[in-house]
Amino acid sequence: MALPHTLTVIGAGQMGIGIALVASLRAKIPTVLLYDRDPSQITRGLRFMDKLLAKDVSKGKINVDDAKAAKERIVSLASSSSSSNDEYGWARELGERGSDMVVEAASERLSIKEGIFRALAQNLSKDTVLASNTSSISITKLAGAAVDGLGSSVSRASEEGKSCAGRVVGVHFFNPVPVMKLCEVIPGLQTSEATLERAKAFAAACGKEVSTSKDVPGFVSNALLMPFLNEAIMCLESGTATRDDIDKTLRLGMGHPMGPLQLDFIGLDTCLAIQETLYEGTRDSKYRPSILLGRMVDAGWLGKKSGKGFYEY
Ligand code: 3HC
Repeated sequence: MALPHTLTVIGAGQMGIGIALVASLRAKIPTVLLYDRDPSQITRGLRFMDKLLAKDVSKGKINVDDAKAAKERIVSLASSSSSSNDEYGWARELGERGSDMVVEAASERLSIKEGIFRALAQNLSKDTVLASNTSSISITKLAGAAVDGLGSSVSRASEEGKSCAGRVVGVHFFNPVPVMKLCEVIPGLQTSEATLERAKAFAAACGKEVSTSKDVPGFVSNALLMPFLNEAIMCLESGTATRDDIDKTLRLGMGHPMGPLQLDFIGLDTCLAIQETLYEGTRDSKYRPSILLGRMVDAGWLGKKSGKGFYEY
């Protein structure tokens, strides 16, 4: 299965940076374009990437030339055309450059992702695989946005639109991306077999084992993980045990590498968004986010990324 020659990663947060790194270092994709609407996020992300590469060199995992080549393959799509009046200028720029595959790793909000998929559908060639690193949002729904994006013309939407939706797929990586060994691949109802195979080949080339999940809220991974995290937060909320004892129980009693409250490094805003998607998508009370989680997000205590969550960083 042919790998992309040019890959674009949308979003330079911790997931996007990790995906760009494994795509360049492991899969050796010749050009990895990186875009974020906040250019300072790219600067921060590339600096973090330098640190990871330097650490791998110092540990003898890769040599200096591998690190240099990996870094050189990553090109920042700083989008000179992007301004507050032209939210999707980057997509036109991308359309002109061309990209065989796009992995969207923007914030876990449906409206943001739908806007991106609409813009991608309008600007990229009909051979481009449009993948999302969403943790919970329906791939079928994102594919629907890609069809809508082709404009109001009924004939255009019915002809090209169908092939557009068939190219949308979920590729769900785990944090920290360079370390975690899995990528969950999710076909939407419209995803073509060829797109699914291309997504799996890409994930495998990035050094990941692949699992496949149906397009249900949270997929397999977060339908299992999020109720677990939520229960841990409810234990803290109800005073069942202290933070440290909750985490110690799971680490030492069950051999988890991190306690559930330490997993605030995912981002509590992201955890809340996933839980809301699970709850709204299933209307099952077992997925109702805890009040404390909502309050932590209200306070801006988002975990490692904001310097405070259940722990101080
Ligand atoms: N980025 C890249 N590499 C990182 C990293 C990061 N943010 N944090 C740690 N690492 C690397 C370290 O550099 C080190 O690499 P090395 O072996 O080459 O030196 C390696 O990971 C181990 O790190 P440490 O020795 O510092 O610490 P630990 O042994 O405790 O491992 C951990 C850290 C890998 C994060 C481990 O605690 C772990 O596996 N935790 C569980 C993480 C987890 O559950 N992730 C999934 C979250 S859910 C998700 O992502 C889905 C989403 O949809 C919500």
